[in-house]
Amino acid sequence: MEHTEVCKVKNLKELISELRRIFSDDSINVEEVQALMESYESNPEDWNEYAVFDQYRYTRNLVDEGNGKFNLIILCWGEGHGSSIHDHTDSHCFMKILQGNLKETLFEWPACPKAEMVKKSERVLKENRCAYINDSIGLHRVENPSHTESAISLHLYSPPFETCQTFDQRTGHKNRVKMTFWTKYGVKTPCTIAASQENN
Ligand SMILES: [Fe+2]
Repeated sequence: MEHTEVCKVKNLKELISELRRIFSDDSINVEEVQALMESYESNPEDWNEYAVFDQYRYTRNLVDEGNGKFNLIILCWGEGHGSSIHDHTDSHCFMKILQGNLKETLFEWPACPKAEMVKKSERVLKENRCAYINDSIGLHRVENPSHTESAISLHLYSPPFETCQTFDQRTGHKNRVKMTFWTKYGVKTPCTIAASQENN
C-alpha cells in the first residue's frame, strides 16, 4: 500500500485550514484525509466550546462549513448514547475520536424486505483514531459503549448533506430523516426538535 505523507497539525485550527486546502481540490484521497485527521492530537482546549451535551441523546455541533465542500461536526455522546443504523447519502464520512471510545457496528444494505439486517463487523475506536465509511462500504451504527464515561467525536462529511436514511435492525425498514444541529459555531440553535434528530 502506498504510504501517504501528511503534515502533522498542531491544533484544531490548523486541522481545519489543512482540510480546507485539501478539499478545495475536486478529487479526494481518503487515506490522506484519514491520516491528516489522525495526525491531530486531541486537545480539549481546542474544542471545548463546541462540545455541548444533551442529557437524553447524542448531539451534533457544527464547527466548520469547509467553504461549502464539507461539514465538520462535533458529536457528543453521553453514557450509553447511540445512533440508529444509517447511511451517508453518497458522501464521504470521516469519524475521529476526540475523547473516550466509540463502538462502530457495520451492516450490509438490506437485501430482502422484512428480514433482520446482516451484521458485517464491529470494532471499538479509541481516542485519536479516525474511521471512514461511505455507502459502498455499507451502513453503520455508532454508540458510546460506556455507562460511566462520555465520548466526543469529530465528523467530516463531504459533500455536506441534510438528510439520511435510518434502518430498523429487525426489519430493514428505512426512513428518511432530517439532521439538525444542537449548536452552530458554539451557539445553541433555536427550536431543535429532538424527534427529527435521528441521524449519523
Ligand atoms: Fe455515520
